[in-house]
Amino acid sequence: MSLLLLFFFNCPNLMRYPIAIVADGTHFALNGKNVAYRFHVDNTTGDLLGDHFGGSVGDNIPLEVIGEVNGWVSDIGRVRREFPDQGRGDYRVPAISIRQSEGYTVSEFRYKSHKIIPGKPALPGLPATMGTEEDVSTLVISMYDKYSDVAADLSYSIFPKHDAIVRSVNVTNHGTGNITIESLASLSVDLPYEDLDMINLRGDWAREAQRERRSVAYGLQSFGSSNGYSGHLHNPFLALTEPSTTESQGEAWGFSLVYTGSFTVNVEKGSQGFTRALMGFNPSQLSWVLPPGETLTSPECVSVYSKDGIGGMSRSLHRLYRNHLIKSKFATSDRPTLLNSWEGLYFDFNQSSIYDLAKEAAGVGAKLFVLDDGWFGKEYPRLSDNAGLGDWVPNPDRFPDGLEPLVKKITDLKAANTSTNMRFGIWFEPEMVNPNSTLYDEHPDWALHAGPYPRTEARNQLVLNLALPEVQDYIIKSVSDVLKSADISYVKWDNNRGINETPSPATNHAYMLGMYRVFNELTTQFPDVLWEGCASGGGRFDPGVLQYFPQIWTSDNTDAIDRISIQLGTSLAYPPSAMGAHLSEVPNHQTGRTVPVAVRAHVAMMGGSFGLELNPAVMDEEDKAAVPGLVALAEKVNPIILNGDMWRLNLPEDSNWPAVLFIAEDARKAVLFVFQVAPNVNHSWPRIKLQGLDPQASYKVDDGVVYTGATLMNIGLQFAFKGDYGSQVVMLEKQ
Ligand code: DGJ
Repeated sequence: MSLLLLFFFNCPNLMRYPIAIVADGTHFALNGKNVAYRFHVDNTTGDLLGDHFGGSVGDNIPLEVIGEVNGWVSDIGRVRREFPDQGRGDYRVPAISIRQSEGYTVSEFRYKSHKIIPGKPALPGLPATMGTEEDVSTLVISMYDKYSDVAADLSYSIFPKHDAIVRSVNVTNHGTGNITIESLASLSVDLPYEDLDMINLRGDWAREAQRERRSVAYGLQSFGSSNGYSGHLHNPFLALTEPSTTESQGEAWGFSLVYTGSFTVNVEKGSQGFTRALMGFNPSQLSWVLPPGETLTSPECVSVYSKDGIGGMSRSLHRLYRNHLIKSKFATSDRPTLLNSWEGLYFDFNQSSIYDLAKEAAGVGAKLFVLDDGWFGKEYPRLSDNAGLGDWVPNPDRFPDGLEPLVKKITDLKAANTSTNMRFGIWFEPEMVNPNSTLYDEHPDWALHAGPYPRTEARNQLVLNLALPEVQDYIIKSVSDVLKSADISYVKWDNNRGINETPSPATNHAYMLGMYRVFNELTTQFPDVLWEGCASGGGRFDPGVLQYFPQIWTSDNTDAIDRISIQLGTSLAYPPSAMGAHLSEVPNHQTGRTVPVAVRAHVAMMGGSFGLELNPAVMDEEDKAAVPGLVALAEKVNPIILNGDMWRLNLPEDSNWPAVLFIAEDARKAVLFVFQVAPNVNHSWPRIKLQGLDPQASYKVDDGVVYTGATLMNIGLQFAFKGDYGSQVVMLEKQ
């Protein structure tokens, strides 16, 4: 393959790696530090054919040898297609399906032109990874269907340092009649492998992010969300691996959709043995009508490749998301230890019990007090979950003087043994409305509904139609009025039900565009506020939310043992810095299990936002006495969790001793967490072999003993535990 090398810019950072994008109008190459992505134009058909997505390669690569065509599958079904269109004999699932104005659903997209753009243009109205011209460069391939006059621009951006390739698609109608986009995948790639495993994250409320691994079988394997949000049931993340790939070895491809709405992932092994992966809009909730002259932009899908196993894949995604997705200034800065009122008081509070709880929080060392659900509603006070959503004014019975005097009193408190003033945070669920609310009385049509069909309630609430500008404006105004009314420096943005009964399938995406507008306006208007996303726990743990909110409440299940799986599962795609994790009371409110206070705290401090979810006043005395020390430890490890690399050493599904190592960005410090889940009687103790250290360097461990990195990685450290549940946190310091 001969390539005309285009030096599109001369940037010192990129020049440490191979040239990021090489293109000659026929062959295209995207090169990262350890990744290469190649495709070319088929001169006869104009189709874009995939050549390689994997480890680095040289300029010349052998092209796919296509067998003699026999049987039902014609040429187009035997090749690796970059953007498979519909209706012309490729019987695998297409990346795009357009109902043309005449009614048929055939398309023929052919390569037309390309351009290379330094940096990465923003996606209109959608969250997206971002970077300077030094971080990222973009190749746009224009495809055109001359029969329908529809253009599809495929935009590939490469972040060479992170081995990440990001793709989105713009579809523009240049014809004269309306067309309908029935399906559009952000990612479509055909890998030339017959034996692959797929890994995804499935779950439900209070058991999010359960890792699921299976062999890719012939035919279609599909999962996704149809509840209007990225959802508890399936996360918009997919990994493909070799069957032999482990956490630390082997090839792994990770795909992560930067979107908060319903989505579909399709993995299809075709009769020829290639494996196709598609990720994008959920076609059952799209039917997007595109009038002449208009464009539909797909969300973007991030693809990373690692030959260092599933752990390497996760670390690439973590670094990319920490550095090039999360806009908040708090993305990697220390997070205050917080106390959230929910599990401590639920709906049962008034001004004085809230102040008492805040005093208790300060007394054990918390730096931020968060007032959760139940503070609002005037005509329809929110005393339980059956009223008040939509009416974002303080409940005058609970707060007769409004929020300001209470916030002042709380922010005058000092966190124990410090001169740090407490900060104040507050809960909202702005996308919702209770039928028992003034908002609903005034604007029943603002709730999503489909004509005469009954409006299905869940948790006694309905979903506002954020596709409507007046609803977006109402939310922006009501949230900003509250934020301006007092010294509020943190917001927990909740969302507690799925979407039903939309007036049209397209409303689902229109809602997302409206929601992103709201997120963008509010976070831009209040950049000093620390925003936390939440959807009954991790029901919207996705990269779209992370663009605006640097942290997300990982699960409503605060049981430490369950949390190990949930947090480690979530970490397949998302950085630990993004996880909210709290120490809660025992017996645990979700599982009824009693776990020692240290174990509960140690699990929680593996999340970037450590907090307490209890009332210290009713804690066991001994447990309560331990909290200030645990808070101090959490604050000591927090910078490493926020900025460091995560190495999952033992998985909870494989070992009685799950273990995780976090290594600081500058590699000078590390922290090891080891847990015991069940007692170990009359048996030797496990050795935890560390990873990712410098074998030649010396490291001082907690007890003062110095070992080389090689010793720590080849022999490991041993721990003994007593009882059911145990934990150890070990600091390492490079000498
Ligand atoms: C669901 C959240 O996940 C909880 O943390 C809490 O904020 C409740 N909603 C309040 O209704």
